Amino acid sequence: MEAMFNQEEVNKRRTFAIISHPDAGKTTITEKLLLFGGAIQQAGEVRARKSGRHATSDWMELEKQRGISVTSSVMKFTYDGFEINLLDTPGHNDFSEDTYRVLTAVDSALMVIDSVKGVESQTKKLLDVCRLRDTPIMTFMNKLDREGQEPLDLLDDVEKNLGMQTAPMTWPIGMGKRFRGTYHLYSKEVLLFDPDAEHGVDRIVAVQGLDDPLLDELLGSQAEELRNDVELLEGAAHPFDLDAYLAGRQTPVFFGSAINTFGVQQLLDTFVQNAPHPRPRATTTRLVSPYEEPFSGFVFKIQANMDPAHRDRIAFFRICSGRFERGMKVRHLRLGRDFQISNATIFMAQDRSNVEEAFPGDIIGIHNHGTIKIGDTFTMGEEMKFTGIPSFAPEHFRKVRLLNPMKSKALEKGLVQLAEEGTTQVFKPIFGAEWVVGAVGILQFEVVLHRLEFEYGVKIAYEPVAYATARWVTGEKKLIEDFEKKEKMNLYIDGEGKLTYMAGSQWRLDNTIENWPDLEFHATSEHS
Ligand code: G4P
Repeated sequence: MEAMFNQEEVNKRRTFAIISHPDAGKTTITEKLLLFGGAIQQAGEVRARKSGRHATSDWMELEKQRGISVTSSVMKFTYDGFEINLLDTPGHNDFSEDTYRVLTAVDSALMVIDSVKGVESQTKKLLDVCRLRDTPIMTFMNKLDREGQEPLDLLDDVEKNLGMQTAPMTWPIGMGKRFRGTYHLYSKEVLLFDPDAEHGVDRIVAVQGLDDPLLDELLGSQAEELRNDVELLEGAAHPFDLDAYLAGRQTPVFFGSAINTFGVQQLLDTFVQNAPHPRPRATTTRLVSPYEEPFSGFVFKIQANMDPAHRDRIAFFRICSGRFERGMKVRHLRLGRDFQISNATIFMAQDRSNVEEAFPGDIIGIHNHGTIKIGDTFTMGEEMKFTGIPSFAPEHFRKVRLLNPMKSKALEKGLVQLAEEGTTQVFKPIFGAEWVVGAVGILQFEVVLHRLEFEYGVKIAYEPVAYATARWVTGEKKLIEDFEKKEKMNLYIDGEGKLTYMAGSQWRLDNTIENWPDLEFHATSEHS
């Protein structure tokens, strides 16, 4: 049998991210999870960071906040003997490609849905990214203390809009003013809601199933409603199936109210027991098991650090196998040379900040001056590259107008370097001279404008450009040449030299794909 290196450390790790639409309750639930994990002392600490982050989009403020966003990028806590890494998915204004790419570095995700609003657009986008790797997803239906949609309709919404089976684990008893708590369909416990009690829980009562007369005592007329609901469920929902969850086909669903902490611990308990520990990851040559002894991993995010004058960057690196020790020497495959990781941030639970080692599933932050790029693989020497850390087709576009024409070299350098950090993507037209910048969130345009000015001394202005979507195009050489002739006004070369087609609308894109059946149009592009 194959040796299982680090078995215990790997098996107790859970590395995940939260996907949700703004305002569904991500910050609130994060805070409650950290409280359970003892990583923060009081409610309000995460919220304070969030309001700081969004109070203004002024550039200097953004600079100041960068320090904060580095520390909140990976929140590590322990719970019930498990080592949990919660990776932040930047949302709201700072929604960017990083938001998508973080999802390539996790083993599972938690989806938070506002029960008043149901499935919303950003959740759907993020879920599509999880789909690329069949990431297992647990769901928390939040804000049951409000008058929301019918629980059955919520499940239906998830099934129809997200294309996943739902398996309710708990079931709400009333909602809004009549919210009494939840019934656990498997442990048969009734969790009684009391907003004034600790964790929102008045008490937990075990019953002998739905026929137990104790239910009527506890819930009065709402006991009968619960019975009817669960009866309906039997025909409409699916029983929890661990394999289907792990394969990303089914999502277990919990109901609760994050602001009242209600239902969060039930979710967390099921999460640590059932969510996957680090899984094998694909490379260009083979699958890498988390139990392999040689160290390996990949970079999924680059963040410019506090001091722009020094071009200091932090590369967020996900460990896939082996044990990391400070000062160890690794192979940087893209550059083909060894380097020593001496200056690294190990994201750790607060009370263990002097820990010097990290394991598969953990994230380390490696300081560098621009030598490390998104998608880079480090190994102990083996020639392989982790795959599945792509660029995502931008959804917003701007044409760049250089205000000082003498600076065109500096502009190119700045745009390419910022693209390497993953801030935005840059595209050079194959016909014409003006660069196009593309992003998945519009705050990124402002970031680029300011950083070009302060770090590269280049002043630019943006002009609107009538593109709505982009695709990387590959195909047989002759066909590509024909395509270039026909579509030259809409073709660009990205920062990595790849041919990119831009379209003014989804309809236009579909039409072009139809007209060129032998070409391939890709919505993601692997880093080279
Ligand atoms: P986000 O990070 O997903 O954007 O959401 P966040 O946690 O900030 O929550 C968005 C709003 O929803 C907040 O209110 C928050 O208090 C509220 N909220 C979160 N969970 C619940 C819940 O279970 N029930 C109810 N009724 N509200 C909930 P806000 O008014 O925007 O902010 P604040 O004034 O509370 O800080």
